[in-house]
Amino acid sequence: MPNTSFPKGFLWGGATAANQCEGAWNENGKGISVADCSMYKSEIDPSDYKAQHSITSQDIEEAMLSQDTSKYAKRHGIDFYHRYKEDLDLFQEMGFKILRVSIQWTRIYPNGIEKEPNESGLQYYEDLFQEMHKRDIEPLVTLHHYEMPLYLSNHYDGWYQREVIEFFLKFCKTVYKRYKGLVKYWLTFNEIDSVFRHPFTTIGLVEDRYPKEKWEEIIYQAVHNQFVASALATKYLHEIIPEAQMGCMITRTLTYPENCHPQNALIALKENRKNFYYSDVQVRGEYPSHIKREWERKNIKIIFGKEDENILKEYPVDFVSFSYYMSRVSSMDEANKEQVSGNLTSGVKNPYLETTQWNWQVDPTGLCISLIELYDRYGKPLFIVENGLGSRDMMESDGSIQDDYRIQYYQEHIKAIEAAIEEGVEVMGYTPWGCIDMISMSTCQMSKRYGFIYVDLDDNGNGSYERKKKKSFNWYKQVIASNGKDL
Ligand code: BG6
Repeated sequence: MPNTSFPKGFLWGGATAANQCEGAWNENGKGISVADCSMYKSEIDPSDYKAQHSITSQDIEEAMLSQDTSKYAKRHGIDFYHRYKEDLDLFQEMGFKILRVSIQWTRIYPNGIEKEPNESGLQYYEDLFQEMHKRDIEPLVTLHHYEMPLYLSNHYDGWYQREVIEFFLKFCKTVYKRYKGLVKYWLTFNEIDSVFRHPFTTIGLVEDRYPKEKWEEIIYQAVHNQFVASALATKYLHEIIPEAQMGCMITRTLTYPENCHPQNALIALKENRKNFYYSDVQVRGEYPSHIKREWERKNIKIIFGKEDENILKEYPVDFVSFSYYMSRVSSMDEANKEQVSGNLTSGVKNPYLETTQWNWQVDPTGLCISLIELYDRYGKPLFIVENGLGSRDMMESDGSIQDDYRIQYYQEHIKAIEAAIEEGVEVMGYTPWGCIDMISMSTCQMSKRYGFIYVDLDDNGNGSYERKKKKSFNWYKQVIASNGKDL
């Protein structure tokens, strides 16, 4: 058996988000969140990410009046809220060292603005974390994973208004105090770079409410407010739980040039730089100069609070986490090239890569490149907190799910991580996305499955919710047991 490069104590596990798995959308005092308004649009091609994500104020009004859960599939999720002990048992059986979950802000402060937190929400997560510890599973907690209170979107323009920073910090302080001693690893904003891709779920902004010519400025302002909130959330974390660590979280959308034409190389470099800008601010504590030049060129005016620059500088994150699903290709001749689009990004088709059933270009080497680049850039520990293959898994006549394609996907990606570690990169852990099947973020489909565990549920919310181990379950168990040796 080959030697493994994975360090002792490497954090193997899996990743989830509360709004995609918990369900119980209106139970025990929970308020309505932006995620509770996302719809499954069966009539739209699921790989058309723009159309799938688009939302109007009319859609929001309808969602607020509706009690429907089949159209708004995140409202029922996979019922993790009631079944989490059973699910944790399965994660424990696989040998998880860590599980990424998020805390829904709306369970703690239903509208985001309340004076007192909702005790039943606080108790739920306390129980969840305790049950995780009983099974030797460390929680990795995202504070903001596409699930802000809808009230803040409707009444405070989402993250555009500065008051939201204070509401968010109040939420953070509440959960830090309550979960001190239970949670060591935290993340502020999930995929903070996705604000332009889906502004409603990330920053609570609905495009038709704002003047077109101000739209870009509004998004930049909202994400600036998130940067400040992220820095202050890091400050308070260190004050309240000194032994805890905070990570930023970006989608690594690695872009290759179409060929060695210098102009193509320049375009790709600029696109990569744009993706890095979000981690640059949170790690280096300042805006890169190219963003400030872009604002000047476009006459975008961002309002900085008096102390903002100092705040960003003083409270950088401790580690860098990211999701990695695919790479993309850009070209100066993009309009005339064959395109591929996934829910995260689109671009020119890469002839060397296969695509998934949702048109995502599978590229394990790109993960190794991303790890090396991020480490060279920041010199901070890295955590791959999402990676995985969404596919339509089929049940065999004997009831088994033979997901060899998923095993192969993970074999290649784990080898890529090992190759980066061999290059001297410090990697803290690996939490494959959707370790149990859950509702897809972008398309609200159940049929887009990522898990090692199958959940009996379809796109319309029909099914028994029964859990079943896929072939990949035992495979991943053996990977963890051998610390990445036995692939
Ligand atoms: C990431 C998100 O963008 O991708 C997750 O952080 C999401 O919430 C994951 O589920 C996969 O995307 P999708 O749309 O296939 O669920």
